[in-house]
Parts: sequence; structure tokens; C-alpha cells
Amino acid sequence: MKLLIASNNKNKILEIENKFSDIEEIELISLNSIKDAPHVEETGSTFEENALLKAKIISEHTGMAVMSDDSGLEIKALKGKPGVYSARYGGENLSDHEKNLLILKEMKKFTTKRKARFVCVIALYIPGDAAYFAEAICEGEISAEPAGNMGFGYDPIFYLPPLKKTMAQLTMDEKNRISHRAIALEKAKKILKGIVNGQSNFKKDH
Ligand code: IMP
Repeated sequence: MKLLIASNNKNKILEIENKFSDIEEIELISLNSIKDAPHVEETGSTFEENALLKAKIISEHTGMAVMSDDSGLEIKALKGKPGVYSARYGGENLSDHEKNLLILKEMKKFTTKRKARFVCVIALYIPGDAAYFAEAICEGEISAEPAGNMGFGYDPIFYLPPLKKTMAQLTMDEKNRISHRAIALEKAKKILKGIVNGQSNFKKDH
């Protein structure tokens, strides 16, 4: 079964490829290989809405089964911010490092209330069938300063108390055992295996 990954984020794609390397039934197709792939504005107010929006529009354009992920960081003391705005928090042009510094500045007054979580919602849009969702969270805290240079985005300021490391101090294999995306991808894999094994019409059409 061919599955189009609706993302241009190289780090996300690497994490997905790593996670799907042991599943023979699924051939991952990159969005780069699709001509005139539509750019989808993330106008939804939840991760679920945004994930579905991306998967649906790209599936309707290509006729393919599509997997998309919408993810972000929710900080308790900041009432869930940056949330669905994680990718553009503080303005479209801020680098990941600048976004991290902005968060640390906003968190300065919350010296003890540092709870945060990464959220990932994966949408699987299967033409002629249905949309499926796989969701997961990873609990942690906002560190006092950035540490580590692996991963991407908010990884350097996302501290995992049980591991005594930030997400950016984990190797990809370590991150891929515990992260929000890793756990959501495991769930998505199970859904996909069910689709491949149980729906002969689907296999015939694609
Ligand atoms: P999306 O492409 O709209 O899902 O953007 C998600 C944004 O959330 C990314 O640009 C990052 O800023 C942040 N994010 C999502 N997942 C992770 C992660 O695993 N590590 C660090 N930051 C993440």
C-alpha cells in the first residue's frame, strides 16, 4: 500500500521513516514527489482539525491515501500556548532558537510551574473509506535553558524528568521510543495494518 506523507518537515519525515522501517506492507511516498501539491493553510483551532485538513486536501488532489501529522507544544502556565500556533509562535520569521528563547522569557516568572506536553495528532485519510486518527502526548517540563542539539523545534527546552535530559539530548532512536509522534505513529501503524489486512476493496483500488 502506498501512503503519501503530507509534510515537508525533514525532521518529521526522518522520524516517520525511522518508525515505519519495519513495516513492509506500507511504501511511504514523499510530498516532494507530487507535482503541484497544494499548500494547506493550518486554519483549524485544534490539532485534529489541522491534521485532517492537510490529509483531506492532499488526498483529494492526488487520489492517494495520505498521512498527515499536526503537533505542537502546550505549556500549562501559558494556558496551553503555543499549542496549534507552535510552528509560528512569535511570528513566521522566528528561528527555532528564537522561539525557544521567547518561551524561556515568558516562563521566567513561573519558576516552579514548568509543566508542558508535546501533542501529536495523526490523520489517515483513505479515499473511498474514511478518516482515522491516532493521538498521543509526551509529558515533560520547560527547562531553564536550552540544552542539546538533536531533534528540532522545541526539543532543546523540553525536559524529560525521568531521563534527566531534554528531548534534544536524545538520539533519534531514543526520541523515537518515547515521543508524542512516536507513540501516535505506533497507533497509526496498527490502524494501517488493519486496513491493509482487512479491506480488500481498498487494496484493489490502490
Ligand atoms: P506543524 O508542522 O504544524 O505540526 O508544526 C508543529 C510545530 O510544533 C513544529 O514546528 C515545532 O515547533 C513543534 N513541534 C512539533 N513536534 C515537535 C517535536 O517533536 N519536537 C520539537 N518541537 C516540535
